[in-house]
Amino acid sequence: MPMHSSRALVVVCVALTATSCAWLGDSTPDLVSCGQLVYDGPRPIAAERAQRFQGKVQENTARCRGGSRAVARRETPWTDWSNYWATGDNSSRAFWGKNVRGINGSLIDLEYARVELIKFNLFDNSGTFSQYVNGPATPPAGLVDGAAIKVWPEMRLPSTHPNFADVGGGASEQHCRGQLIRFRTLTGICNDTRNPLMGSSGTLFARNVEFETTFPDQGFNELARNRHGNRLSLLSPDPQVISRRLFTRAQSDSASCNNGFGKPGYAKDANCDYKKAPFFNVLAAFWIQFMTHDWFSHLEEGHNRAEYMPVGCPVADAAKLGCRPDDRVERGLVADSLPPGTFKHQNGDRFARAPRTFRNSNTAWWDASQIYGFDERSRQRVKRDPNDAAKLQMIVAGDAKTEGDRQGYLPLLQPSDPQNPDWAGQEASAFPDNWTIGMSFYHNVFAREHNQFVDTFERHAKAHPDEDSGLRDPAAPTRAIPYKEVTPDILFELARLVVPMEIAKIHTIEWTTQLLYDDPLFRGMNANWNGLIQNDTAIKHLLGGVVNELSASDRASVANSWYSILASGSGIVGLGSQKANWTIGDEDSYNGGTNHFGSPFNFPEEFITVYRLHPLVPDLLEYRDFRTPDTIRYKIPVVETFRGRATTFMHERGLENWALTMGRQRLGLLALQNHPRFLQNLRMDRLQSPTRQIDVAALDLIRDREHGVPRFNEFRRQYGLRQLTSFNDFVDPHLDKSSPERKAQQQLADTLRAVYGTHTCDASKTITDAQFNADGSPINDCLGSPNGSTVDNVEDLDTVVGWLAESTRPHGFAISETQFLVFILNASRRLYSDRFFTSSFRPEIYSTLGYDWVNNNGPVAMFEPEPVNGHPHQPVSPLKRVLMRTVPELTPELEHVANAFDPWARDRGVYYSLEWKPRKGAERDEAFARPGSR
Ligand code: HEM
Repeated sequence: MPMHSSRALVVVCVALTATSCAWLGDSTPDLVSCGQLVYDGPRPIAAERAQRFQGKVQENTARCRGGSRAVARRETPWTDWSNYWATGDNSSRAFWGKNVRGINGSLIDLEYARVELIKFNLFDNSGTFSQYVNGPATPPAGLVDGAAIKVWPEMRLPSTHPNFADVGGGASEQHCRGQLIRFRTLTGICNDTRNPLMGSSGTLFARNVEFETTFPDQGFNELARNRHGNRLSLLSPDPQVISRRLFTRAQSDSASCNNGFGKPGYAKDANCDYKKAPFFNVLAAFWIQFMTHDWFSHLEEGHNRAEYMPVGCPVADAAKLGCRPDDRVERGLVADSLPPGTFKHQNGDRFARAPRTFRNSNTAWWDASQIYGFDERSRQRVKRDPNDAAKLQMIVAGDAKTEGDRQGYLPLLQPSDPQNPDWAGQEASAFPDNWTIGMSFYHNVFAREHNQFVDTFERHAKAHPDEDSGLRDPAAPTRAIPYKEVTPDILFELARLVVPMEIAKIHTIEWTTQLLYDDPLFRGMNANWNGLIQNDTAIKHLLGGVVNELSASDRASVANSWYSILASGSGIVGLGSQKANWTIGDEDSYNGGTNHFGSPFNFPEEFITVYRLHPLVPDLLEYRDFRTPDTIRYKIPVVETFRGRATTFMHERGLENWALTMGRQRLGLLALQNHPRFLQNLRMDRLQSPTRQIDVAALDLIRDREHGVPRFNEFRRQYGLRQLTSFNDFVDPHLDKSSPERKAQQQLADTLRAVYGTHTCDASKTITDAQFNADGSPINDCLGSPNGSTVDNVEDLDTVVGWLAESTRPHGFAISETQFLVFILNASRRLYSDRFFTSSFRPEIYSTLGYDWVNNNGPVAMFEPEPVNGHPHQPVSPLKRVLMRTVPELTPELEHVANAFDPWARDRGVYYSLEWKPRKGAERDEAFARPGSR
């Protein structure tokens, strides 16, 4: 089995990126290493969890792909690919052959990671896990592998569900049919027509780690007890102490920051220092919050459990640290805390689910449910235009002088709407929690985009009423539906298909390629969307067909690996949609292109952990007016825009000015000591506590502990990454010892030690079975130090603290490699599992106009006049197109922008430069003035 999958990687290397094997024409000294690499052949896909790839390559491989620099860095715990040729900025490039080796070597390493993540990191909580591991209790002929299961009884609609009868009720198989398959449903049922319940609102979060490793503070097995002793509990180590010592942004002038409240009148001489990412803007920070509101929520209508708990802060230290012992917060909601039950596997007992489970109150699909709703209650907040039911309602705000303003703004929540009192005065939206100017911005932009699509469709329908719209109805699959028959309700649903897919595209090829700003990721993310071979449609279709065949295979372990590898060639989007004789009358056509790899899709708890990205948000927004873009006029505190006040700010100042403000400002680096001050001191009136305040940074740790997320080192081992042996592993040994950067890293390592502590280790205690030492021996409590020595409590490190402490990162990575691994798996799965991105991405479902709108980023295709980081003929990126349509006043500003998430006035240089310098024409932008020179 392993050899099949490994050979597939070579096939990909040769067939898809033929140039990647062009090292044979290279005459560098590294050629010997390359020759050896070819001779040795590809490494096999791991048969066992403990034999995983871990992102570390042989010396020959490192030398072939990155020369001596890559070889020198093999000894660190961090993955090797980021040291290959051409994976950084211009200085990482050599000549063509080496660059190609570097980039393609990276893509091959990343594909190994994805294949093994799919193989080892899927843990469903809803009752299917024992079959996934042991195979079905009564296998159909030839089906023995649990990872080949495609339909689960647990994913049936229960008899209490209003659509129970529609999907076949108690019949042996449930199938969604008729109108249930045409569009995305409100609650997310029937995305997979054979597993109607999967991914719908209220289903359980999954896990990416072995159930036995969850809830480490409970010490469920000996390994966990050995790993952490009795050092852990919900409030130990103290979350508020961690927040104040490891998360607080240092201020050069505390008074002018004023804990994030700035100065009266929003005076521009206010200042809150924060560590900035030069290549990522504030629009990107709010984008990802906007996304998480689509994907998941542990809360219901902004509420947790009505039971309060203390949140730490030792009274004796409170004054010194600035934390608050009197803070209280509601405990998190729990779905099931009964004992998980066990089953036998290879002579041992395994948990059948995690010891506690939690519900995702949102749909897990990428369906823009934050805009359109995820249940009846949230849908009541979505306002349709009373004059045209295809549109979202927009109102005139302000004097509507600009073309954008004439497209309108979202109306406000009405007293009759279901709402949490905290949301009073906000714009009406399905997901209104934690509203600020950032959420107001994106909700207004995409409501305008919805209406833009509807307008264009209606104009076309008026001009060509009898033309085939491309749509088909399952009730009469072969009958063409002319434009004139498309009702406002159908058109609303079409826009509700197009907008989420545009959002998914923006996220995949625009946001992520700027979050992970280097060439392997540019290619990798574009491959996820379009395939690695974008211009060869014949090979693309051929591969798409092979992948489709594989998705039907019963030999799961082999098929799943092949599938993932080959899908990187053809692209995930549209998989199965090119099936011969595709018809809306055939379930295999519209539902046949998804792949859940044997485990029903929902987000895992570990995914939420790595999305706790609060440091991205600055305390103060550098407010600008689009008529004088280089001037910062005010410093407006984000906290002043919290909840209903966001709406006032939006209506008074307009989308165009907020777009420019957030487009030009850098966001906060994901690093230690970089959380917004205002979030550590957030006032929330609903809280029944003496302070009515909460430290959101500390709460991030508490919630992860409530959800039983493994601590950082085991988390890494579970994802197939190397463990750390001490806090000093966070210090980059390749930095000059006297450099300020190295000193700062050492200081943080020392603070981690002071907060998390040390202990005398016991080498007789094995702490994990996810990996072994290099010599094959078990990993023990001493992590390589002599028995009885004092070692760091590195095993206890909260996962959020760990990934924030990772200062060694691939070039241009705004996130750490630990977070990245979680993304590789789940970002791919979110596409693979969704019928509307794969086999149902067809004109018959989206309409011809909708289908083309997604592919062309709007009504017609547009291309950048200049190459983007050396890539010629790039389409104008999708968010830029959306902004050009919905906020047309920005068009002159956007002319200079290649990626809407790169600070708009920055000079991008020739190749993935991270420099902070102004582009031509923006030299006077105040954000580029030297500190202190303003
Ligand atoms: C700027 C304004 C923001 C505010 C006021 C805010 C506030 C909060 C609060 C109060 C919670 C805790 C909920 C609870 O567990 O009781 C929370 C959770 C969370 N926040 Fe934020 N946040 C902001 C921005 C962001 C951003 C930019 C991200 C980036 C992705 C983010 C991601 C998350 C995530 C993933 C959770 C966990 C949600 C869950 O468990 O369902 N937040 N936020």
